[in-house]
Amino acid sequence: MTTYISAEESETRSLAGSLAAAVGPGDVIALVGELGSGKTRFAAGLACGLGVEEVVSSPSFVMMREYHSGLVPFIHVDAYRVRSHLEFEDLDVWERARDCVLVIEWADLVAMDLPEDRLDVLISPDDSGGRTIVLEPRGTWRNRSLPDPI
Ligand SMILES: Nc1ncnc2c1ncn2[C@@H]1O[C@H](COP(=O)(O)OP(=O)(O)O)[C@@H](O)[C@H]1O
Ligand SMILES: [Mg+2]
Repeated sequence: MTTYISAEESETRSLAGSLAAAVGPGDVIALVGELGSGKTRFAAGLACGLGVEEVVSSPSFVMMREYHSGLVPFIHVDAYRVRSHLEFEDLDVWERARDCVLVIEWADLVAMDLPEDRLDVLISPDDSGGRTIVLEPRGTWRNRSLPDPI
């Protein structure tokens, strides 16, 4: 587990961007944090680091969005929009994401569906208006090297 302090949006984006060097096809990044904590900013920073050209915003109404302009196909899921376990299964996320980098916002809402091998990212606002960001590698992710704390 590694803890980072992000004083502003750009720091969250660059932390996420620096993670791009450590991710590849089949990787799952599970984002957890309250509304407005910075999950979408984190997803956008990672996408940017992977060379995705489009601006990554909240997938909101579509639940899942795919981007193919980067080094690796990138899938962004917003589990907040998923109404049920069955609906999540219908998205066929795991099959579709096999050769992609997959980022899931509100991953705690689909906790039982998450693979053992993943990077958990917990974002929480701190007292000074910044964010505490905890990277928690699970399973084989433990063997990876993660960015140094800022
Ligand atoms: N250190 C920070 N990291 C990320 N976002 C921040 C930070 N400080 C302030 N913000 C603001 O918080 C909001 C985060 O929004 P967003 O990424 O959409 O959150 P979420 O997807 O978790 O609901 C943005 O308005 C952003 O400018
Ligand atoms: Mg969001």
